Amino acid sequence: MGVPILRCTTLILGLFCVASYGYTPIVLWHGMGDSCCFSFSLGAFKNRLTQQLPGVYVLSLRIGSSMVNDVENGYFMHPNKQVEEACETIKNDPKLSDGFNAVGFSQGSQFLRALVQRCSAAKVKNLISLGGQHQGVYGLPNCGSLSHPTCDYFRRLLNHAAYNSFVQKRLVQATYWHDPLNEDLYKKSSTFLSDINNELTVNESYKENILKLDNFVMVLFENDTMVQPVESEFFGFYKPGQSVELVNLTNSQLYNEDRLGLRELDNKGGLHFLALPGNHLEFEWPWFIKMIMEPYLKN
Ligand SMILES: *[C@@H]1O[C@H](CO)[C@@H](O)[C@H](O)[C@H]1NC(C)=O
Ligand SMILES: *[C@@H]1O[C@H](CO)[C@@H](O)[C@H](O)[C@H]1NC(C)=O
Ligand SMILES: *[C@@H]1O[C@H](CO)[C@@H](O)[C@H](O)[C@H]1NC(C)=O
Repeated sequence: MGVPILRCTTLILGLFCVASYGYTPIVLWHGMGDSCCFSFSLGAFKNRLTQQLPGVYVLSLRIGSSMVNDVENGYFMHPNKQVEEACETIKNDPKLSDGFNAVGFSQGSQFLRALVQRCSAAKVKNLISLGGQHQGVYGLPNCGSLSHPTCDYFRRLLNHAAYNSFVQKRLVQATYWHDPLNEDLYKKSSTFLSDINNELTVNESYKENILKLDNFVMVLFENDTMVQPVESEFFGFYKPGQSVELVNLTNSQLYNEDRLGLRELDNKGGLHFLALPGNHLEFEWPWFIKMIMEPYLKN
């Protein structure tokens, strides 16, 4: 039960208090193939949040003018534009002006991170990434390269198409295609992920904004067949030049050169890694309450 708390400010003439619910607002960003508000997915999730945290303000981001449009945009509207649109929505919402917690589902997680890095109106306290692909993907959903040689063939084939500028402009998932066999090509040609990960240059404001987070929580689904490699959900990826051996965030160049502020955030105790068994986004509500809501959303 949410307890009303008093928010007080001392002014010259005395103490002014307003009663309000203590819960920080929550912003959700759905994944590919989903929308802000379907009753079987994020609509239900929002209802559960409001049951647990009475009075909390929850905004589930809709990109576009309708739910159908929102689903289409998850495939075809460039992430840079989606992030701009989300930034406008947040800037114009007075309920979010004091800050909020953010929960991303799958690709919505890296879009929320881009929002943190680029949008000054988005004052995010805790950023929760559920199965996000922070180092991108190299593989097709349900097509593990080790289990199936054809899959490796297809991903090699896709390398040629994904970085074509036509495809980069038109297919969302190409903007976070990460080819470990051609790291330089990825860094130069990815029109989204390479930028938000400060691959070519270090954008200092991205770093500063990451460091404004209280916590960045990454959740990895160990048996995820949608995301290749699964370690991308923990900001890990293949070692450059091949597609078998992995390197995790703490051993990566991104971390060691602290190009994005993640090492400093980690040193402040703000980086968290939670792994759980199961396929993509398969988690139980009691797990969510205990591991995410209690520590990160009940503030
Ligand atoms: C850093 O990112 C911000 C927000 O996207 C952008 O406005 C700015 O131009 C970037 N700075 C550099 C040096 O690229
Ligand atoms: C799930 O993944 C874990 C860790 O990689 C592994 O130990 C386990 O065997 C997997 N379970 C299934 C059912 O594949
Ligand atoms: C990465 O691996 C090292 C061991 O090489 C381990 O100490 C560290 O905790 C790992 N980091 C992550 C984020 O899993």
